[in-house]
Amino acid sequence: MKELILGVNGFIGSHLSERILQGTDWEVYGKDLGFDKIAHIPPSSRFHYVEGDISINREWVEYHIKKCDVVLPLVAIATPKTYIENPLGVFELDFEENLRIIRQCVKYRRRVVFPSTSEVYGMCGDKDFDEYGSHLVMGPVNKQRWIYACSKQLLDRVIWAYGSRGELDFTLIRPFNWIGPRLDSLETAKEGSSRVVTQFIASLVYQEPIVLVDGGRQRRSFTYITDGINALMSILFNKDKAASGKIFNIGNPANNCSIEELARKLLTMFKQHPSHRNDKVYSPIIIKGSGEFYGDGYQDIYNRVPSILNAKKALGWEPTVGLDEALRRTLDSFLSEMDNHRAAACA
Ligand code: UGA
Repeated sequence: MKELILGVNGFIGSHLSERILQGTDWEVYGKDLGFDKIAHIPPSSRFHYVEGDISINREWVEYHIKKCDVVLPLVAIATPKTYIENPLGVFELDFEENLRIIRQCVKYRRRVVFPSTSEVYGMCGDKDFDEYGSHLVMGPVNKQRWIYACSKQLLDRVIWAYGSRGELDFTLIRPFNWIGPRLDSLETAKEGSSRVVTQFIASLVYQEPIVLVDGGRQRRSFTYITDGINALMSILFNKDKAASGKIFNIGNPANNCSIEELARKLLTMFKQHPSHRNDKVYSPIIIKGSGEFYGDGYQDIYNRVPSILNAKKALGWEPTVGLDEALRRTLDSFLSEMDNHRAAACA
């Protein structure tokens, strides 16, 4: 089977490529702007990487949609700070560029596995979110944070509509705060635009304050990347078409925790880590208002728990990595990456 992964050098794309190359005989055709997150993958005649921008190299993209069996359009801006700073950039990339790809999947009758998002549920008050029952609740238009959720939601609806006319074989996945090695980068965290786990790890490494936005009582359900990739692999195998025409929340409800608890756990783990247990200074934990941290266009989601009954039933999938283990593995990977960079700089 031939997989086309657009955004192959991203967090999900890099882990998925690794797993496909290790565990199957499939071929991966991948495109991205860089290759730092896939540089460690051993060379393989089944891994075809081409550097480039999907909005420029349109002929390459169309040719490969035609050539491959399954298309994974993973290119998107997915960091909340950018939704507020560059909302039109989010719309153009996350919606417009991806719409073109979806239409080409329809044209060439190719299967698409599309990354929707936990954010489409917005400020839904349900105790856990159901793919077919929960309401999708966005804030007002001046709260620009929602442009990402709206862009993704509208594409979900377009994909669903093509699917319901029998013109597209699709699966929509909704990752719930996937974390792990290579989630964003410590560099982007320096500018304050990484997702929360990387942001906190960067604060610890650079001895900057850990910022709890609006006090840190908001909650997320953090999901370890290998669990997410297990689900994605079942979706790609698509035994008996169990994943076709479906939406799946892919998250770990047992790993629900507040952002304050998250900060405290990471701080404790950092203080115990062999490379840092003798540091003299550790980051303080401070509180900042969301207006100051993100700007006026921000609005938060206070709790977000996936129902994973549909994924369990159709795919036989369940997450297995608990929160502490997920955080420890993520922290270890960033710290050893830092150690390697420092060693290389001194050599
Ligand atoms: C994320 C992003 O929109 C997408 O990556 C994705 O589609 C989706 O949710 C997901 O991964 O499921 P969010 O969970 O709000 O949204 O993103 P984070 O930046 O990781 O923030 C989580 C929470 O931590 C927010 O309440 C935020 O205000 C808080 N935060 C963030 C802090 O308290 N301090 C920080 O330094 C950063």
